[in-house]
Amino acid sequence: MITTLHRPLPRTLVLVGLMGAGKTAVGKRAAARLGLSFIDADQEIEIAAGCTIPDIFERYGEPAFRDLERRVIARLMRDPVQVLSTGGGAFMDPQTRAVIAEFGLSVWLKAELSVLAARTAKRSNRPLLRGGDPKELLAQLMERRHPVYALADLTVESRDGPVEETVDRVLAAIDAHLAATAATDEPAPGSTPLGQMD
Ligand code: S3P
Repeated sequence: MITTLHRPLPRTLVLVGLMGAGKTAVGKRAAARLGLSFIDADQEIEIAAGCTIPDIFERYGEPAFRDLERRVIARLMRDPVQVLSTGGGAFMDPQTRAVIAEFGLSVWLKAELSVLAARTAKRSNRPLLRGGDPKELLAQLMERRHPVYALADLTVESRDGPVEETVDRVLAAIDAHLAATAATDEPAPGSTPLGQMD
């Protein structure tokens, strides 16, 4: 078990994945362990719009929601390093993916359909799951979105069970990623370190 990272997190940690993947629950706990602030993109969108996400969808439509989502995330990605959870559709937007790639470290929380269906059944605040059988709708979204979520820097399984275990896996994956990146940044063996040349 890993309690925190061996190196400081150099970029904002961005959690992506389908509804019910645990992005907010995992994000809050990861932020607490890292001593960073946590921010939820959906909540920021609601603040910016002055109404709830279901209301935005109902009053202005999904394209308006996506537009606001793109702008809010672009702003949040320029904040100091923090932990950011995004709504399930955010990473599908090419501009949002580009800004996350530039300023963040993205982690796809990947969960099985049964886990997503059970978790999302607890609340009815998701407009995209209202038009039919939620499990069927989630399965369709999975098919479309998984290949895009796979573009995230890291993928971590979000399983049924204690959230802290998923947080452990996220931190371990980031730790390994930072160690590997640091290793490739080091000078090749035998090369002359800068500043020590004759
Ligand atoms: C959406 C996911 C929701 C929210 C909106 C649309 C999506 O966020 O942004 O209802 O397109 O998958 P969560 O993934 O946090 O539920």
